Amino acid sequence: MSRFTSIVVALGVTALVGCKDKQEEAPPQQEPVRVEAPSTQTAPAAPAGGPAAEAEKYFKARCVVCHGTTGAGDGPGAAAIDPKPRAFADPAWQDETSDEDIAKIITEGGAAVGKSPGMPAHPDIKGKPEVLKELVALVRGFRKDG
Ligand code: HEC
Repeated sequence: MSRFTSIVVALGVTALVGCKDKQEEAPPQQEPVRVEAPSTQTAPAAPAGGPAAEAEKYFKARCVVCHGTTGAGDGPGAAAIDPKPRAFADPAWQDETSDEDIAKIITEGGAAVGKSPGMPAHPDIKGKPEVLKELVALVRGFRKDG
């Protein structure tokens, strides 16, 4: 019986040592996982570089010149234009216009929707519907009630 016990103990010790070995190996194995973790954490940052960020960049590069940084219609390019771009903050306009109207005037320009050709067409954005959607959302975001 006692021999059997020592065999069990020996086996137990072997198992423990084996286990310990594995545990010691485990951290280096988990290391790459932890290295991958930050790259997954940059994934949420990826949307920041996604359509919304692209729309914001696009607005700064292509719209601010006339519409101003706050969409007030006071960009330097607006000085020479008549009629002036309206303030996007205007809740009455925000109510009466649709997302489709906004998208259409952005891609096709003022003339295509019976408004001033002072609003140029941006056909390049047609190929990026998700950026166009975010651009519309950005225009919507300038709304100011009260
Ligand atoms: C060269 C100046 C200019 C640039 C650049 C420009 N716009 Fe305009 N935009 C105008 C003018 C002027 C109007 C007003 C047209 C009218 O009322 O007849 C206008 C009208 C609009 C309207 C419709 C507002 C309304 O009265 O219904 C939207 C939306 C709009 N612009 C968005 C944009 C966006 C987004 C960009 C950038 C992609 C942009 N515009 C670039 C000058 C510009």
